[in-house]
Amino acid sequence: MSISIPRGTQDILPGDVELWQQIEQKARELCEKYQYQEIRTPIFEHTELFSRGVGDTTDIVQKEMYTFEDRGSRSLTLRPEGTAPVVRSFVEKKMFGYAKQPVKLYYMGPMFRYERPQAGRFRQFVQFGVEALGSNDPAIDAEVISLVMNLYKEMGLKKLKLIINSLGDKESRQAHRDALIQHFQPRIGEFCSDCQKRLEKNPLRILDCKVDRDHELMESAPSILDYLNEESKVYFEKVQKYLMMLEIPFEVDSNLVRGLDYYNHTTFEVMSDAEGFGAITTLCGGGRYNGLAEELGGPETPGIGFALSIERFIAALKAEGVDTNINEGIDCYLAALGEEAKDYTVGLLQKLRLAGFSAERDYLDRKFKGQFKAADRLNARYVAILGDDELKNNIINVKNMETGEQVEVALDSFIEYFQELQQ
Ligand code: HAM
Repeated sequence: MSISIPRGTQDILPGDVELWQQIEQKARELCEKYQYQEIRTPIFEHTELFSRGVGDTTDIVQKEMYTFEDRGSRSLTLRPEGTAPVVRSFVEKKMFGYAKQPVKLYYMGPMFRYERPQAGRFRQFVQFGVEALGSNDPAIDAEVISLVMNLYKEMGLKKLKLIINSLGDKESRQAHRDALIQHFQPRIGEFCSDCQKRLEKNPLRILDCKVDRDHELMESAPSILDYLNEESKVYFEKVQKYLMMLEIPFEVDSNLVRGLDYYNHTTFEVMSDAEGFGAITTLCGGGRYNGLAEELGGPETPGIGFALSIERFIAALKAEGVDTNINEGIDCYLAALGEEAKDYTVGLLQKLRLAGFSAERDYLDRKFKGQFKAADRLNARYVAILGDDELKNNIINVKNMETGEQVEVALDSFIEYFQELQQ
């Protein structure tokens, strides 16, 4: 019996992987421009990092983690997200002492969540994310948002909606928390058992409940924006002012609470507005997490970041019909006729490649016609034709596949000729 791929995972095959690479490259280029540097953290971490960092009452920690005991009886967890690991590393490696501040980092790699798979939702997915640590300037909130919006735009996405909210500082959150408890307490019996637990522990999570989403008390729940203290209000206004300066349209939605516990002040999500995108429209999520470093044993450090999955990025490109055909073709295909000519192309192919060209030859003992077909399939710009006779006479025929023009070239200066062709 054959073995199939685990549910919620996917193979990314040649033909599809090129788009992944293009997005990854664009993301890296943009990070270079914005001065974010790459960090690579382990795929698994101590479970406690996520229960403390992401939060005990979140769906991620309660229901979605791949947690296992290793042979030394340590509880480890495949990372469900990248922020807690990055902040763990920031604290552990004492990056708060770096001369270069704020510390601006990015990461790209697989994350794991045991969720019910559906369109746009996988159990292993690849996140690209950035984290800026050490600055309390609302301008960096706007910078982080502009980075992701520019990435989407540069890849050709147009139908995007940016939603922002503020969860305020500790004091504002406490006031909002009290109001939420007052609001839900009298009728908490009508809510699911998770929400009943959430009421005392973390009432904000009730607003995020997938089961009780349509309960009438949800809509009338007190809005965080009415509980922001002066400082939090001013901070949020500044973020909005900077977004306007950067000409990034946005909507404020006080219901945007996000599914992780570490947030305060700015939170945001980018959604796809494309028709037929499917039920899950969130492409990217992020926000500020000023208390996280402290929670993980470090000094008080402000931080903000976002993460997006490449899977949903690609789904959005497809939903918008963005032309993602990137079969660039190869520079040269070497077609050979005769034993000696075939042998000769082994070395010639190497020379072409070392000179910087993408090149290929036949490995299936195809007839001449079959080799041309193979060249066509590879979208070769030139085919260089070598027979035993040509080899004896030190010549090779170079055919331009676009114009059909064919030129006879001295074999020993073929590489130089090919280099000149490209200029
Ligand atoms: P998150 O909202 O849990 O935030 O995930 C961020 C993004 O990851 C989502 O918007 C979505 O694109 C993608 N994503 C999440 N789960 C799945 C899934 N099962 N399948 C496919 N894609 C998925 C975070 O992870 C935070 N660490 C973001 C952040 C960084 N906040 C501050 N810094």
